[in-house]
Amino acid sequence: MKFDDIVPWGRSFDEYIRMFSLSDADLHSAILGCGDGPASFNAKLTRRGGNCVSVDPIYALSRQQIRQRIDDVFTDVMRQVREERNQFDWRDLGTPERLAEIRMSAMQTFLEDFDEGRDSSRYSVGALPELAFEDAKFDLALCSHVLFLYSNVLDHQMHINSIKALCRVAREARVYPLTDLNGGISPYLDNVIADLSEQGYKLSLVDVEYRVQKQATQMLRVSALG
Ligand SMILES: C[S@@+](CC[C@H](N)C(=O)[O-])C[C@H]1O[C@@H](n2cnc3c(N)ncnc32)[C@H](O)[C@@H]1O
Repeated sequence: MKFDDIVPWGRSFDEYIRMFSLSDADLHSAILGCGDGPASFNAKLTRRGGNCVSVDPIYALSRQQIRQRIDDVFTDVMRQVREERNQFDWRDLGTPERLAEIRMSAMQTFLEDFDEGRDSSRYSVGALPELAFEDAKFDLALCSHVLFLYSNVLDHQMHINSIKALCRVAREARVYPLTDLNGGISPYLDNVIADLSEQGYKLSLVDVEYRVQKQATQMLRVSALG
């Protein structure tokens, strides 16, 4: 897939569970969702009594404006999914139409939660690589479909600075996917792992259950040593 920009497109709570192998203990921890956009993870976790803050530049917009941005990209995203359907594993998803239903339902859940969540600071305006949170405020930082995916517009240093920022504000960071928009492993992955290891971070590649993009079978777990 090729997008001109980083699009607002939201995944469901269940997709987050599988992308990040979230355990029950994880779901009871303090979670930062970085680049959560219109995903329903925060809304659903909050309803279950969880503790989640999402940060994304798109939260500077109103609910109406975000809805409009979703509508603007919907046709284009779905056209690209259909054109590149061979990149996808359809065993869980079924069809592009079913995928569209799951995503639109997740984004509707987000939109219904947005005003209240913004008022209570669960949705916070911000953008990597800067995170305006105190050190170690969160147990877990999740970053889905931003880093590595947009390797066409985010460079090596952006990945390094962003992952360090996630590890500053959380005990552990998890990043998924590690593929880029062409469906292959990001050209930055190996060097980012090498660079951060050298700087004293502990990194591991972990297999996940989630299957959408065929080659996106692993997440990256990172924590600062000591
Ligand atoms: C493809 S969406 C993914 C949304 C969600 N994480 C998911 O997986 O469903 C990418 C999101 O990244 C956000 N984004 C763009 N630049 C960002 C940055 N520098 N830091 C954090 N988020 C950013 C966009 O606004 C958008 O909501």
